[in-house]
Amino acid sequence: MSENCPAKYGGEPIRDSALGYGGQSITDHEKEAVLDALEGDYITRGPTVKRFEDRVADLVGVEHAVATTSGTAALHLTGRAAGFGPGDEVITTPLTFVSTAHAATYTDATPVLADVDSHTRTLDPNAVRDVITEDTAGLIPMHYAGHPPAVQEFLDIADEHDLTVIWDACHGFGGTHRSEPVGSREDMAIFSFHPVKNITTGEGGMVVTDDDDLAERLRRFRSFDMDYDPPGHEDEPWYQVTEGEGYNYNVTDFQAALGLSQLDRIDEFKASRDEIIASYDKAFADIEGLRTPPDAPDSDPMYHLYAVEVRDEFGCDRKEFVNAMHEENIYVQVHYVPLHFHPFFQDEFGYKRGDFPSAEAVYDGLVSLPLFPGMDDSDVADVVRAVERLHAFH
Ligand SMILES: Cc1ncc(COP(=O)(O)O)c(C=O)c1O
Repeated sequence: MSENCPAKYGGEPIRDSALGYGGQSITDHEKEAVLDALEGDYITRGPTVKRFEDRVADLVGVEHAVATTSGTAALHLTGRAAGFGPGDEVITTPLTFVSTAHAATYTDATPVLADVDSHTRTLDPNAVRDVITEDTAGLIPMHYAGHPPAVQEFLDIADEHDLTVIWDACHGFGGTHRSEPVGSREDMAIFSFHPVKNITTGEGGMVVTDDDDLAERLRRFRSFDMDYDPPGHEDEPWYQVTEGEGYNYNVTDFQAALGLSQLDRIDEFKASRDEIIASYDKAFADIEGLRTPPDAPDSDPMYHLYAVEVRDEFGCDRKEFVNAMHEENIYVQVHYVPLHFHPFFQDEFGYKRGDFPSAEAVYDGLVSLPLFPGMDDSDVADVVRAVERLHAFH
């Protein structure tokens, strides 16, 4: 079989070892930081967590950062802090991970989906305007792949309709838009520090905000909704009371230590991601039927994903593309099966296939190619060769 034949059709796989679409980069420096934290007096809710929060607040340029056990937990806290509840409607994109909508569903509010702009793949402000009602309470735009949503338009809409904005910036940590750090605008933004994300703490997340009241509520809900110093009990140091139903979304100090040392490397991580993206952009510029990710004007995103769209002219469809890449030992992924395809959103909220044509048209071609700082030049070359070989074959 010729070396130009993709593995799926009988050729030799391009790689012997598996290459995933994302993954962490952890050096001895980080491992030592974690061990040091384990030697400390506090291994959870201690001083390293506070230092991690302060560093993130500083990087984003906001007053408050509240560390959580995951991005999903962060979204839950934002929904509670915003005061969402039954009867409230919260608008978000169908082209996201399910947790985005959980800021609404966990609080028994209704997630209302609005279509995306097929160029940017982020929530379309016009589609949002079309679904606003007097029950709309919030908006959750998402930074797809790290691409900023229409920030100013959403702030204007929120102003006009008195809505709480929660930026799901799980994909965008470390980037800037119009010279402002991603996550710095009102009301709250959330990040995820899952291993595939721009920095990692294993599992982990963060909410950032400039609003003192929201920050207070976020911290309370994160820790059991407990008042640790209730008035009138100053001489009873044990006396702590809960006034509502909170959670234990507290982060350990050893995770925070990992996060802090990952922050020391954020410029290196960004440069590495940018370099891989530049190689892909150059290699794929002339491949017919492969739409490379859109540019983000006035922005310097820290891209989490390199999501291409496979179109008819490529010669095979997305399913064939994904399975052919897997046969090469290159484990590309698809972000995401749209929310309205999931039984949960269909059964609970009445959505169905066909409801959001732009999101579906994008989804039909979507494939995330490997993008993470641990990749070396030969990994990138393998991905390029696999795509070129598949294109040539078809
Ligand atoms: C857009 C988006 N929102 C929310 C989440 C949830 O984050 P976590 O996995 O940290 O709970 C993710 C993570 O996959 C995500 O990609």
